[in-house]
Parts: sequence; structure tokens; C-alpha cells
Amino acid sequence: MNYRELGRTGWKVSEISFGAWAIGGAWGTVDDKDSLAALHAALDAGVNFFDTADVYGDGRSERLLAKLKKERTEKFYVATKAGRRLREQTPEGYSRENLTTFIERSLRNLETDTLDVLQLHCPPTQVYYMPEVFDILDDLAKEGKIRHYGVSVEKVEEAIKALEFPNVQSVQIIFNIFRQRPAELFFDQARKRKVGILARVPLASGLLTGKITRDSKFAKDDHRGFNRKGEAFDRGETFSGVDFKVGLGTVEELKQLVPENATLTQLALRWILEFPAVTCAIPGGKRPEQVAENCAASSLAPLSAETMKKIRALYNADIKPLVHQYW
Ligand SMILES: NC(=O)c1ccc[n+]([C@@H]2O[C@H](COP(=O)([O-])OP(=O)(O)OC[C@H]3O[C@@H](n4cnc5c(N)ncnc54)[C@H](OP(=O)(O)O)[C@@H]3O)[C@@H](O)[C@H]2O)c1
Repeated sequence: MNYRELGRTGWKVSEISFGAWAIGGAWGTVDDKDSLAALHAALDAGVNFFDTADVYGDGRSERLLAKLKKERTEKFYVATKAGRRLREQTPEGYSRENLTTFIERSLRNLETDTLDVLQLHCPPTQVYYMPEVFDILDDLAKEGKIRHYGVSVEKVEEAIKALEFPNVQSVQIIFNIFRQRPAELFFDQARKRKVGILARVPLASGLLTGKITRDSKFAKDDHRGFNRKGEAFDRGETFSGVDFKVGLGTVEELKQLVPENATLTQLALRWILEFPAVTCAIPGGKRPEQVAENCAASSLAPLSAETMKKIRALYNADIKPLVHQYW
């Protein structure tokens, strides 16, 4: 596993880290035993950074991470999120009182006195025009409730605006073969300001593993069934907002580009790692085998310039018209 510096924190984090949404909920039934085994496999492979949120399984994934900490001696970092417990997403909801309540709850779930990283969880765009919200985060850091903070965003424009707040250490954004716009506008600016980038949904919700077909069935409580048109939350979070059938077609073409001794999943993760502005990709993993496969992408050879060019051409032809201007 290779490591990269996260913002100005001085921390070196695994370039393939772990996204803990699926082990919390909204991805069909998961068994805590499998989830815990997946978390152990991540540590075994050198992962030292885990992304979670207070709402994943209503705190379930945070509690699993607390359990992991008790079962292992290695030091690892946990980045959690706050804001989605609000019944309604309004800018006013991001108040001192609400944020403090959410953070206190995460501290209890994670069984710690200080959160390593707290991210605002895709708040309304208006929040990025409210310096008072970031002042609250500064105060919470002074009080010792959080060590560092960052944001998780839907749109490139929100990511760029967030860079204006001097203590933002990380920006989490969807970035994968099917979502390339962040690299055009945002990456250079983040790099200049030494702000870390967490590439989320790196496998386009599993589409980029190549295992999903037209006939794949998803459980009732799996967002890949119920959120394709954004019925429950931003449609970009499900298959990165790419039309299911179009996505499957492009996946077939991507399969031709997989290097020897690698898998399509690893090609997708390797592609992300070719961007030096990215601190880490945070693939979700439900089982140890998935985690091992994902982590192995770190030690594979870089993709050739030719492969990178072909991937860009596929994106330009098939995917760009569907997603590029939306996020
Ligand atoms: N608003 C936000 O801040 C936000 C939103 C979305 C995600 N995130 C974060 O980003 C993380 C990653 O995004 P994501 O989980 O949405 O999507 P993802 O990483 O693109 O896809 C994860 C899913 O792909 C499948 N998978 C993973 N590795 C695999 C492998 N090696 N082989 C086959 N299948 C594999 C698993 O599901 P199956 O086995 O069921 O197919 C897994 O749950 C999340 O866990 C979360 O931490 C944050």
C-alpha cells in the first residue's frame, strides 16, 4: 500500500482507503460479521483511513469502526460526517446547536473524545456562502471535539468555493471513470492550496467492477434499485448519475483495456490514482475479498498514457454528454 499526505494534517493516508456506507445501510442486507471481517481485511492490507457518516445505518458503521479499534492495535484515522440527520436540508440547519448535537453523537458511536476528521455531509450550496458555519467548526476544533474538518460535496463549484475557507483540510467528491469533471477545474486549485481530495464512489456504485448486468437484481433497500432517478437523494450518488444501460455498454468497452494480471475493478481504481491531486480513493467494501482486490490496485503498475487516452475518449463519446454539466 502506498500512502499520500492528507491536506496540511501531516498525516499519511493509504491511497486506497475504505468507504463505510455499504456496511451501514442502503445497499441491501449486510451482516456485521462480514462487515467487520472486511474492516479487518482493510487494516491487513495497510488501509489506515476510513470514511463514514453518522447516518450510515443510523450510526451502525461508526459503531463497527469503534469495535475495530478495540480489536486491533494499529493506528487508523476515521473521517465521519454531519448534517444529514437534519429532517430537512436547510442552510439554517447547519447551526451551532445542531452540529454540536450531531458531533456529540458521533463521538459516542466512535467511542472517542475527538473526531479525527469531521466533514459537512453534502450541505446545501448556500452553506458555502456562510462563513459562520466554518467559524463553528473552528470553535469545535478549539474545544477539542474535532481534530480537522473538511467537506463532502455534490458539485465541483461547491468544492472550489470550499477551498476559500482556510482550515478546510479535505474535500470529498465523486471522481471516477464516469465522473471526470473534477480533474478539469478543481484538482489544480486544491493542490495549490494543499487541500486533500477523497475520491468517493470510485467504482460507480459497483458498475465499474464489471459484475453488474442488465439482469442484476437489487434488494428493496439497495439504492441501486430505488434511487436511479434520484428518488431518495442526489441521483449522482447512484451509478454516478449515468444511465444504467449506457453505463453497462461502456463497461464492456473498458474491459478491453484491463492490463494483464489486473481486474476491471483495479483498472478503475488505478485510473483514479493516476491523478496526483487525489489523496485517496475510498471504495466501499462489504467482504474481505472485495477489500483485498481493491487494495491491491495500489501496488499495480501505473496505467499507460495510451490506456488513459482511450479511457478519456470513451468518456467523451459515451458518458460526458450525460453527466458532465450536471455536477
Ligand atoms: N454524500 C457523501 O458524502 C457520500 C456519498 C456516497 C458515498 N460516500 C462515501 O464513498 C464511499 C464509496 O462510495 P460507494 O460505496 O457509494 O460506491 P463504490 O465504492 O463505487 O461502490 C461500492 C460497492 O461496490 C461493490 N464492490 C466494492 N468492491 C468490489 C469488488 N472488489 N468487487 C466487486 N464489487 C465490489 C460493493 O457492493 P456490492 O457487493 O453490493 O455490489 C460496494 O458496496 C462510501 O462507502 C462512502 O464512504 C459518501
